[in-house]
Amino acid sequence: QTCILIGAPVDSGQKRAGCLMGPAAFRVAGLAEALTGLGYKVIDRGDVVPRPHPPMDHPNLAVHHLAETLGWTEALTEVGQAAGALGFPIFLGGDHSLSLGSVAGMAARAQAFGRPLFLLWLDAHTDFHTPDTTQSGNLHGIPVAYIAGRTGFEMFPPFPAPLPGHRICMLGIRSVDPEEHAALIPEEIEIADMRVLDERGIGAPLRDFLDRVRAENGMLHVSLDVDFLDPSIAPAVGTTVPGGTTFREAHLVMELLHESGLVTSLDLVELNPFLDERGRTARLMVELVASLMGRKVFDRPTRQF
Ligand code: ARG
Ligand code: MN
Ligand code: MN
Ligand code: MN
Repeated sequence: QTCILIGAPVDSGQKRAGCLMGPAAFRVAGLAEALTGLGYKVIDRGDVVPRPHPPMDHPNLAVHHLAETLGWTEALTEVGQAAGALGFPIFLGGDHSLSLGSVAGMAARAQAFGRPLFLLWLDAHTDFHTPDTTQSGNLHGIPVAYIAGRTGFEMFPPFPAPLPGHRICMLGIRSVDPEEHAALIPEEIEIADMRVLDERGIGAPLRDFLDRVRAENGMLHVSLDVDFLDPSIAPAVGTTVPGGTTFREAHLVMELLHESGLVTSLDLVELNPFLDERGRTARLMVELVASLMGRKVFDRPTRQF
């Protein structure tokens, strides 16, 4: 199988500079080498350039960099869809606003294959604002709402086949704004917040979701935000929230995803290398990708666990 690395140095979805160095840090941390070592062919198609977009205002005056975000969304949708026809796309962020484009591209690709797209959102945050409800104005806080087909995205390209709530699962959630909370209540989106993970462990809710993906012969996009992880192991992110996923839980998620054989694309987002400690967060993210793509300590049949 071929992995296609897509550099998405998006920095406009939040206010702290540095995410634009993310793709370079993933490359320096040895992402391509790790994948090659697992037997994949790797194509690095370099960094995407946002489409130029005329300046745009928004009635919510907090919203910033709307035109840039639209330019990124259009470019990444197109590049992602093309890459998805050739192999397994891995988007190297860049902040989480890149998922507006990456997931739109994967939705268009799934539509072309006649299969439903599912989304696993690994994040401390639900990113369920619309441009109207965000208080921070940071557009990395809106992609799931776009993907789920919420209203308030009229200035964006129409999302190809918005995902019904039951096709979206969030793990690791521990920071939700009141407007997001209100909008999520009527949704069917499965939210395994930290309370659920403490009660059930991280494997059980994930297995339930993977069963649903399998039952519908779905394609599964995984969006991994660095702040899914506990800040003590992954400090290189602008939006740290205490009480995150441990090293062990994160690897278990990746190993279960690999064993499912269902994952068809991946985002690596919110890495801010300027905040890292000697590259440890970038290297951890690369190790997690290796687990997701099949690295294991001992290869034994699943039933032995
Ligand atoms: N909900 C907050 C906001 O809208 C935080 C969003 C954080 N999102 C992220 N992709 N890190 O500002
Ligand atoms: Mn446009
Ligand atoms: Mn996020
Ligand atoms: Mn987050």
